[in-house]
Amino acid sequence: MARRLRGIMDAMSTGENGRSRKVLVTGAAGYIGSHTCVVLLEAGWDVVGVDNFDNSSPVALERVAELAGRPIDFVEADLRDSAAIDAIFAEHDVDAVIHFAGLKAVGQSVAEPLLYHDTNVGSTISLLGAMTRAGVFDLVFSSSCTVYGSPDVDAMPLIESSPTNAVSPYGRTKLFIEEMLQDVAATDQPWRVLSLRYFNPVGAHPSGRIGEDPVGIPNNLMPYAMQVAVGVREELSVFGGDYPTPDGTCIRDYIHVVDVAEGHLAALDALDTVEGFEPINLGTGVGSSVLEVVAAAGRAVGTPVAHRIVDRRPGDAVTVYADPAAALQRLGWKATRDLDDICVDHWRWQQKNPNGYR
Ligand code: NAD
Ligand code: WQD
Repeated sequence: MARRLRGIMDAMSTGENGRSRKVLVTGAAGYIGSHTCVVLLEAGWDVVGVDNFDNSSPVALERVAELAGRPIDFVEADLRDSAAIDAIFAEHDVDAVIHFAGLKAVGQSVAEPLLYHDTNVGSTISLLGAMTRAGVFDLVFSSSCTVYGSPDVDAMPLIESSPTNAVSPYGRTKLFIEEMLQDVAATDQPWRVLSLRYFNPVGAHPSGRIGEDPVGIPNNLMPYAMQVAVGVREELSVFGGDYPTPDGTCIRDYIHVVDVAEGHLAALDALDTVEGFEPINLGTGVGSSVLEVVAAAGRAVGTPVAHRIVDRRPGDAVTVYADPAAALQRLGWKATRDLDDICVDHWRWQQKNPNGYR
C-alpha cells in the first residue's frame, strides 16, 4: 500500500479522496488503548484494534464503541502472529499505527524476563515487519518514563535527552524497542516514529464506563488506593515515609489517562513533522507525593483513604517528573487535568465497576 499524502488532510482526519484516515491500534482493549480509541473515534479517525485479551476484556471495546457512538473494527490476535498481522494490513487501508500492546508489570518482568522480552520486543519486531511489508511507516509507540531509570532528584525535570538507564527487564524492553526503532528509522525507508514516554497514567474516562482493571492485587498506587476506598482492600501501604521529600514520601508525575489519550491524537497529527525517530515525554510537569495522592483520593471519595506508612519498596526512585515542554512544542499538546480531576474520575469508574469489567 502506498504511503498516504498528508498535506491535504483536514482536522477531522479526512484523507485524500475524502476518506477517513485509519489507524491500527495494538493493545486497543487495554487501559490506555481503550481511552485512546474513544478519543480517536471522536476525532474522526477510523480505528481497527488488535488485542489478544491477555490483560483486558472485550467488554472494554463494547464500551469504547458506545462512548464514541461509532463502531470500532477489531481483530483478536497475538501480535507475534505475523500472518495474522499481515492479514489486518491486507484487509484494512491503514495509514498509521499506535502500538500499545505489551506487558507492563515491573515485578513480573523480574520473575519472567524472557516472557517480557518475547512479548514486548517480539511483538514489536513482528509489527514492524508487517508494517514494512504493507508500506506503512508512521508509528506512535508507547514508551515509558521507566527508560530514565532511577535518576537523581537534581536531574528533575526529565527532558528527552536526559540519560536513559532502565533498571528492570520491563524497562529494558522499552529501551531495546526504542533502540530498534532508531535503527529502522535510520534505514532508507521513510519511517516517522514518535515514542511517547508516559509518566504515571491514572484516572478514568469521565463517564465511568472505561478505566483501569488490574488483575489481582494492584501493583500501582492509584488503583490500590481506590480499591481500599471501595472496600475491596483494607488499607493502603505507603511505601516509605523517610524519603528526602517535603512529606517523606516519593514524588511522581501523575497524568490523567484522557490527557494521555489526547496526546496520541496530537502525536498522529504531528507525524508529518517527524524525521525518523523522536522521543517525547507525556507528563504534566507537576510532581505529587504519595500522601498528596492519598489526600486527593480522600477528597474525591468523601472520606479518608485508610493508609499506613510501611518500609520502602525496593527499587523506587525518590522523585520523578517530566519536563513537558517538548510535547507542547512538537505536538501542540499539554495535560489539562489535575490530580483532583484524576481522583474524581478514577473514583467514579471504581464505584460503578467495583469488580472492573468482570
Ligand atoms: P494494558 O495491559 O491495560 O494494555 C496492554 C494491552 O496489550 C492489553 O489489552 C493486552 O491484552 C494487550 N497485549 C499484551 N500482549 C499482547 C500481544 N502479544 N498481542 C496482542 N495484544 C497484547 O496496559 P496499559 O496500561 O494500557 O499500557 C499500554 C502500553 O503503555 C504498554 O506498552 C505499557 O508498557 C505502556 N505504559 C503504560 C504505563 C502505565 O502506567 N499504564 C506507563 C508507561 C507506559
Ligand atoms: C507510585 C508511588 C510507590 C503502591 C510504575 C512503573 C513504571 C511506569 C509507571 C509503566 C511510588 C508508591 C505504590 C502502593 C505505595 N509504568 N506506592 N503503595 O513505581 O512510579 O511506576 O508506573 O511503564 O515503569 O514502575 O508507579 O504507582 O507503582 O508507585 O506507596 O501500594 O506510590 O512506592 O512511590 P511507579 P506506582
